[in-house]
Amino acid sequence: MADNFKSIKRVLMRVDYNVPINNGVISDLTRIQATIPTINFFLNLGKQVVLMSHLGRPKAESSKYSLKILVKPLSGLLKRDVFFYKDWLTSQINLDDQPDVVLLENLRFYSGEINNDKVFAENLSRHGDIYVNDAFGVSHRYHASTFGILSFFKKKYKGFLLSKEIKELTALKNNPKTPFTVLVGGSKIGSKIHILKTFLGIADNILIGGGMAFPFVKKNGGDIGESLCLDEELDVVTDFLLQADQNNTNIILPIDCVVTDSIKNRSNISIKKIDKIPSNCMGVDIGPQTMQIFEKYILDSKLILWNGPMGIAEIEEFSQGTKKIANLIASATHLGAYSLIGGGDTVSDVARFGLKQQFSYVSTGGGAMLEFFKNNYLEPTKDLLKINNEDY
Ligand code: 3PG
Repeated sequence: MADNFKSIKRVLMRVDYNVPINNGVISDLTRIQATIPTINFFLNLGKQVVLMSHLGRPKAESSKYSLKILVKPLSGLLKRDVFFYKDWLTSQINLDDQPDVVLLENLRFYSGEINNDKVFAENLSRHGDIYVNDAFGVSHRYHASTFGILSFFKKKYKGFLLSKEIKELTALKNNPKTPFTVLVGGSKIGSKIHILKTFLGIADNILIGGGMAFPFVKKNGGDIGESLCLDEELDVVTDFLLQADQNNTNIILPIDCVVTDSIKNRSNISIKKIDKIPSNCMGVDIGPQTMQIFEKYILDSKLILWNGPMGIAEIEEFSQGTKKIANLIASATHLGAYSLIGGGDTVSDVARFGLKQQFSYVSTGGGAMLEFFKNNYLEPTKDLLKINNEDY
């Protein structure tokens, strides 16, 4: 096995270190921990490992999204020095002179990453002799580091994390249970709703909470005050509801929510009907009546897929909905349901609530988990997924 890598000295590895950060502190290390076995595998073979990742969705370089924040935890987990390569695209450092672990600055500081730019991908590819993808969470994206780069390597592999995720999700997909409930929250409606569509007719229930709910409420004529909602999301919702009408999947929306006029001050917090939010307020969590409705669906389910918090769960006052849902899914799991949860924020939340061990499977992917569940493969990385780990 190790013979396969005899002639190479450097491994370029795509990881998903898009970790949750609150007030400048990383609140959950799951995504980093999950890549350690693959990194150690190559380090133990005497290779240098060059790690590349995105963090957030910055439009340009910004200290808020610098991967420098990862150097310390990564170095602690690996018990090795980590060289942070800030100007990897423009400077000419000889990596032979650097420690065995190198971390490139945030790929998304360059538009070439999300535009899948060929020249950018080629420049990136110069940082390793072989390519490894251990970034399940972002493997559904047609980006330079996940897709374009593949054509610049003869030898490319999937890492242990990517393999494990695919194995678990395939097993579940091949053996689904009913009633099947999908629960989504968070705020990435634009990228999640097209995936949600494919659960229509497959899932028995789709429960929608968090920021995902407001475009639906607004579309139905409700007053959502200053709650999260982009105009373009209204069309997406219309389309979704049209398709939902032709299927027998129940779409369940919140009926009440916690509102505030200031996320910062939090002195004015109350419960309102979700379609009657005062114009100066925003919804920040699901309300008690919604929790009761969601409870019934969750406890009646035999398969539960959850991604995305029900509110701004990193703030204690707005975390009750997410906490309640996490506890309900844990209870359903104890009663025999299979629960699959995923996504950076969701995993961080359940870890903080001390519930991370209470689910059947915790995936490092959010959108990627949903996408895989839909297709049984991730289109941009499908050729890579065909490669057996035995190739190692
Ligand atoms: C995630 O958190 O789901 C992954 O890191 C992908 O991030 P993205 O949705 O910004 O591409």
